[in-house]
Amino acid sequence: MRVTLKIWRQNSSKEKGKFVRYPVDNVNPDMSVLECLDVLNEALVEKGEEPVAFEHDCREGICGSCGFMINGVAHGPLRATTVCQLTMRHFKDGDELVLEPWRARAFPPIKDLVVDRRAFDRIIASGGYISVSTGSAPDGNAIPVSKAIADRAMDAAACIGCGACVAACPNASAALFTGAKITHLGMLPQGKPERDRRAVRMVTQMNAEGFGGCTNIGECTGACPKEIPLEVIAVMNRDYLGGSWRSRDQAVTPITPFTEWSTGSKLQNDPVSGG
Ligand code: SF4
Ligand code: FES
Repeated sequence: MRVTLKIWRQNSSKEKGKFVRYPVDNVNPDMSVLECLDVLNEALVEKGEEPVAFEHDCREGICGSCGFMINGVAHGPLRATTVCQLTMRHFKDGDELVLEPWRARAFPPIKDLVVDRRAFDRIIASGGYISVSTGSAPDGNAIPVSKAIADRAMDAAACIGCGACVAACPNASAALFTGAKITHLGMLPQGKPERDRRAVRMVTQMNAEGFGGCTNIGECTGACPKEIPLEVIAVMNRDYLGGSWRSRDQAVTPITPFTEWSTGSKLQNDPVSGG
């Protein structure tokens, strides 16, 4: 099959970008979209032109590296599928595919289809972990966890940090990503001791990164390749409010109301420790 790739080309965040059309012949329908880009890049390199920059690693829907908009849809038209798993057979011979990077203030462009998603890393670093000495591996079932709780935690843990939820949201909110991490850790007994502190710190960091506020539109869960449910945002809000209330005597920074999530001010103080 033959397709045309209309790709956003941008050399750096300091330069303006533009769309460039590239016809690609001999596309095997079993190729993934990334492999189709590989074919294009080989041809561009042979011609002495700059290849298209895009992120990838596992190419199995696991790592969360890949991701861009295809015809205005995050990760393309197939539900619960990353671009590395999306094959060309889902398009027709002669189709034009418009490829654009995630567009969000908190994800500044780096080059072509690559954006800087380190804001997610900073949200994780602010509290998305369990601070215990784990020692050697415990016996299986040493800490009983009910099946229902284990299933909910596992569903939330499926988040691969790709950023599609932010790109799909009209507010560029990171609530689904942050909610998934807070839910995954807070559900399990090992994560409960730090549940309050984790929620307050991660939500505060999310606000500071300049992501927009959640207004319950639901585009995020529709675009999510791991189908993270909206419920995790409710868990995040509940943990954040509960944690804020219980740590109110220690708080130095006033708790930012949800309506001001999109202010984008940089985090100055730790609201829990006052540091
Ligand atoms: S919640 Fe879904 S869309 Fe958002 S980062 Fe995680 S896997 Fe990607
Ligand atoms: S390359 Fe790892 S999820 Fe797509």
